[in-house]
Amino acid sequence: MDHFLYRDGRLFAEDVAVAEIAASVGTPFYVYSTATLLRHFRLFDEALEGLDHLVCYAMKANSNQAVLQTLAQAGAGMDVVSGGEYLRAKAAGVPGDRIVFSGVGKTREEIRLALEGGIRQFNVESEPEMAVLDAVARDLGVVAPITIRVNPDVDAKTHAKIATGKSENKFGIPIARAREVYRLAAEMPGLRVIGIDVHIGSQLTELEPYRLAYQKVAELTEVLRADGHQITRLDLGGGLGIPYARSNEAPPLPTDYGKLVKETLGHLGCEIEIEPGRLIAGNAGLMVSEVIYVKSGEGRDFLILDGAMNDLIRPAMYDAYHDIISVLEPAPGVEPQPIDIVGPVCESGDTFAKQRLMPPLRAGDLVAFRSAGAYGAVMSSEYNSRPLVPEVLVKGDQFAVIRARPTFDEMIKRDTIPEWL
Ligand code: LLP
Repeated sequence: MDHFLYRDGRLFAEDVAVAEIAASVGTPFYVYSTATLLRHFRLFDEALEGLDHLVCYAMKANSNQAVLQTLAQAGAGMDVVSGGEYLRAKAAGVPGDRIVFSGVGKTREEIRLALEGGIRQFNVESEPEMAVLDAVARDLGVVAPITIRVNPDVDAKTHAKIATGKSENKFGIPIARAREVYRLAAEMPGLRVIGIDVHIGSQLTELEPYRLAYQKVAELTEVLRADGHQITRLDLGGGLGIPYARSNEAPPLPTDYGKLVKETLGHLGCEIEIEPGRLIAGNAGLMVSEVIYVKSGEGRDFLILDGAMNDLIRPAMYDAYHDIISVLEPAPGVEPQPIDIVGPVCESGDTFAKQRLMPPLRAGDLVAFRSAGAYGAVMSSEYNSRPLVPEVLVKGDQFAVIRARPTFDEMIKRDTIPEWL
């Protein structure tokens, strides 16, 4: 459920008309709903009720400071994957003991930054990383709390580019080698092993892969405890999918997921951490764009928008489907017609949808891409020297620009000219 609904024939973001925001900030732009963000965060929090737990929002999905601060104030921890994300989390007021550091390529500098600023734990992904972490921690005279990310070799049944739990993926250490790697970690004085981490992929639309992975984690917990390790925390990753289409695709709900966690891991008495990103932010955001032209082609028509692949890359990159709706509610009985929806960038890949059924639209009309709150603005670029798309946050009947569109002058001045020119 989200808070983007038609009222009196116009699309609203909570209590603000989307067209009103467009008139104020110009198009294209992203708009996020505070109520939806909070609702999704709370669904996870409630799903794990009864377990000692922390929901660490995977901020890679949407790391705007205002979004982070909204979630931080509701009690969210953060899952970060870079020094930049770490600093953003801190700037949003998240204390170090609510920040977990994931990722296969943490640098010495990033490790040092997090150890100095405070960290809940590092999710370590390899032996070389373990050695560097141990060295940096000893150098600073501290002990780094760690989990080790295991790769359970489970098929997450999602798009190949966002599956992470198969043995051929670069993530984690093979679960079969876990005992050996935990033994090595226990011998390193700069490290304190506290648990196990697993994340099998993103946009999962079934619970079964989670069940398989979590059962393996449960078994491993017992084995490692028998080996003498203190396993007190399990980080279960993120990945729960969202409905992108209005079709009958209905991924499991956080409540179902919470039940599964309790069934598979509840008996172990561990503190549970999860790292959802998409499900918290995805359906809390729209990208709004204006129709520039309606062009007739050979056997097909094109809706040319002022938003492009640089603003929302998911369709070009993963063939992702995003629902695209008219900001003016189509009148009842209007027959939708198939049309290709494209952006102005000079690549055929700049196509959002082919032969999508849309109500008749004209130049100047507004459309909204649904489910664009996660992996939307964060993956945008200024390709074709198109200004970075701005972001707006709505709360009730208020809205605020939370990242302004840069001016062309700012964009040009970011580059510097060598003195020989
Ligand atoms: N934890 C780890 C270690 C991750 O790698 C990820 C996502 C998450 C948590 C959050 O997963 P989520 O709950 O958001 O599914 N750009 C792609 C998605 C990449 C996901 C990368 N890792 C997309 O637009 O579909």
